[in-house]
Amino acid sequence: MQPDTDQVIAEIDALPDHSIYGRVSSVLGMLVEVGGVEKRLSVGGRCRVITRGGRVVPCEVVGFRAGKALLMPFGTLDDIGLGCRAEVAEGQPAITPTTGWLGRVVNALGEPIDGKGPLPQGPRPTPIRASPPPAHARRRVGGKIDLGVRAINTFLTCCKGQRMGIFAGSGVGKSVLMSMLAKYTAAQVSVIGLIGERGREVQEFLEADLGPEGLARSVVVVATSDEPPLMRRQAAYMTMAVAEFFRDEGQDVLCLMDSVTRFAMAQREIGLSAGEPPTTKGYPPTVFAELPRLLERAGPGTGEGTISGLFTVLVEGGDMEEPIADAVRGILDGHIVMERRIGERGRYPAINILRSVSRTMPGCNTEEQNLLVTRARRLMAAYADMEEMIRLGAYRRGSDSMVDEAIHFQPALENFLRQGKDERSDLGTGYSELAAILGMPAVGSAG
Ligand SMILES: Nc1ncnc2c1ncn2[C@@H]1O[C@H](COP(=O)(O)OP(=O)(O)O)[C@@H](O)[C@H]1O
Ligand SMILES: [Mg+2]
Repeated sequence: MQPDTDQVIAEIDALPDHSIYGRVSSVLGMLVEVGGVEKRLSVGGRCRVITRGGRVVPCEVVGFRAGKALLMPFGTLDDIGLGCRAEVAEGQPAITPTTGWLGRVVNALGEPIDGKGPLPQGPRPTPIRASPPPAHARRRVGGKIDLGVRAINTFLTCCKGQRMGIFAGSGVGKSVLMSMLAKYTAAQVSVIGLIGERGREVQEFLEADLGPEGLARSVVVVATSDEPPLMRRQAAYMTMAVAEFFRDEGQDVLCLMDSVTRFAMAQREIGLSAGEPPTTKGYPPTVFAELPRLLERAGPGTGEGTISGLFTVLVEGGDMEEPIADAVRGILDGHIVMERRIGERGRYPAINILRSVSRTMPGCNTEEQNLLVTRARRLMAAYADMEEMIRLGAYRRGSDSMVDEAIHFQPALENFLRQGKDERSDLGTGYSELAAILGMPAVGSAG
């Protein structure tokens, strides 16, 4: 029987074909222009540029101009000149993780950077730039997830597959909080993306905050601030891809990313280099298109597993209206606001409960739990309203019974919210401690 010619052509097309190459026709800043292969390439596609010295620099297509492909490098541009060969790399970039990646630290390309030898490779390719699961096929968020941190478990309860933002300035305690979440959560696996931090901070996080016990149940993806923007952006995609692998294995995954702001800044550098206009306070439009594409990848899947996501956003001076903060807040299912003022008075994690919200609450709670949490919030709000007056000694006890109560409970509530970085707290204990403080009946952890 004659083979079907269409099928033969399809098979030939599917063969990796590395013989197709173009030539570098210009280099400007971070941008490499390649001619001769523009018909073979599309945005997001890959090329390997061979430098004069024979070094191979992986590049990604970020746009086209005047009939030429515009590439950005995953490495440095040193030694690339006019006429250098640019080979087209076919196929979608993918990784092949296994559970053997737990305890490992990888870069944005999925290469090990912890000196522990090669990474085991699994059978199933996971694309680095996947699309979020289709909305109609996605399950709804599941039951509560125990995050191991009292303030969040009780006042900002999260469900499996929920996505939250952590909004904070620098030095307010994001890294310590993330390490506590990774270590103490009941989720089976944590995938942690460290994007755009300085190298020293990464070492501190791995050794001092996360420690060997936290690392053992995590995969950490790192792109430091000195790496090219393409690496910093891809570290975010890589973090999601690893989380998706574990989710598709049916696990509940906690995905922590620090920070989404640095991801947005990397996308800004890429967009501006490719000639996009800066439209919103210096950010080009692709930043606001890429943010939901990234963040929507977290969430419930179409099967058993879930990705619960916590993404940090840098807000210097508490400016929640800053464009990235504003965009991210609109995409996620709630936000946790951390304040320097609170840390300075010695209460860590420095979460301002009154400014934070989890959108799955109160729906995920029992009626008793909601009564308990609402009562505690009211007391905190009453205290916050009168805080200045109370500090100045201008408030007279007896003028308002709610404020009197708030003053009475304030030290115990403040103490409840305080949690040392070596202390784990589970959902049930959090509720019973809060109930005991307020003299209310115990409520259990379910909901
Ligand atoms: N739970 C905590 N208990 C005690 N100190 C804390 C806690 N969280 C943060 N800190 C203090 O705050 C400092 C800055 O925290 P870090 O997580 O590195 O901030 P960020 O990542 O936001 O820059 C830490 O070095 C530590 O002194
Ligand atoms: Mg930090």
